[in-house]
Amino acid sequence: MIKTSYVSRTIAELKPSGIRRFFDLAANLEGVVSLGVGEPDFVTSWAVREAAINSLEEGYTSYTANAGLFELRSEISWYMEKQFHVSYRPEDQIIVTVGASQALDIALRTILNPGEEVIVVEPCFVAYAPLVTMAGGIPVTVQTSKDDDFKLTPGQLEAAITPKTKAVLICSPNNPTGTQLGQEELVMLADIIKKHDLLVISDEIYAELAYDEKFTSFAAIDGMHERTIVINGFSKGFAMTGWRLGFVCAPKEISEAMLKLHQYAMMCAPTVAQHAALEALRHGMQDVEEMRRSYRRRRNYIVNSFNDMGLDCHNPGGAFYAFPSIEKTGMTSLEFAEKLLTEELVAVVPGDVFGESGEGHIRCSYASSMEQLQEALRRMERFMKNHSQ
Ligand SMILES: Cc1ncc(COP(=O)(O)O)c(C=O)c1O
Repeated sequence: MIKTSYVSRTIAELKPSGIRRFFDLAANLEGVVSLGVGEPDFVTSWAVREAAINSLEEGYTSYTANAGLFELRSEISWYMEKQFHVSYRPEDQIIVTVGASQALDIALRTILNPGEEVIVVEPCFVAYAPLVTMAGGIPVTVQTSKDDDFKLTPGQLEAAITPKTKAVLICSPNNPTGTQLGQEELVMLADIIKKHDLLVISDEIYAELAYDEKFTSFAAIDGMHERTIVINGFSKGFAMTGWRLGFVCAPKEISEAMLKLHQYAMMCAPTVAQHAALEALRHGMQDVEEMRRSYRRRRNYIVNSFNDMGLDCHNPGGAFYAFPSIEKTGMTSLEFAEKLLTEELVAVVPGDVFGESGEGHIRCSYASSMEQLQEALRRMERFMKNHSQ
């Protein structure tokens, strides 16, 4: 048995992910319909898989440049320009990473001195606060409210800033709320960020999954390019979670510093996945469009069904999560999720795992087939009838 004293205090004190704990429960039950997983139900398109196979047949099995294949970085540069109107040089402003996860990790570890603060906007992806802590920083959480559609307000941001604040970590469209920040909202936040000379780490991993409003990158806002680290990748929009491929775009000074970390800790992202991503960017945008349309249809269906059965649900502008309120049932989100799992065999994620302000909500991923969604919603409707107060 490992003595806790062998483990660093920082790591020993980290709480394990609440999502995992919940899914261990679900894994032991048969017949569960899961709205729990945060990944596309689509298989990566065939052309992309074939490009990976071809790269192996052609013998591309060695390391690439630390920052990634130059061809891929060039394609990412072109993609960022075309889709989001932001310019990054492939030579020194783009690094291909092992998922957006590693991009977040190197971004935080590169910018933080011990004790510096990062504002983390909750509810959010469960890794943010732990990654800040592991980078030696202090996560300062801000709780958004469903009354503001879970959008960070300028007043909340201003109030969270201290002399130790180094950066703000923002995700739009958001996991778990699906909330997307519009251009005007970004401009208002940017004014405060510029006034206090802060950095933004903008997690744009769901940028391709914006359904109603055009997605705006934080780096495209006036005066923000030089103070934004953009995190993106292939997992969500391109249905490539298992390939473990992401990228980070940043001003040269930060990007070159991140590359040192990446080079020592990772060497480079997987070569075969880089060849696949090249094909995804060159010829895969039609597939992305089709997946987006499919998620949009499912979003409309699940949100309407929740509202019809008495679970208030705001309309999420992007990603593939609905985040309905379960407050009316009088249960905590954990009680609701556990009862729903044991009584109706439907797995959802209790909202409090994403932060305090997620309490009273559940995260339901609609990246499942329409049949699965219909079955889950039938069971949830019955559950709501059985528990109506
Ligand atoms: C908001 C957010 N950022 C980053 C990630 C990690 O993505 P990747 O698979 O590219 O590491 C996820 C995955 O769920 C996510 O939801």
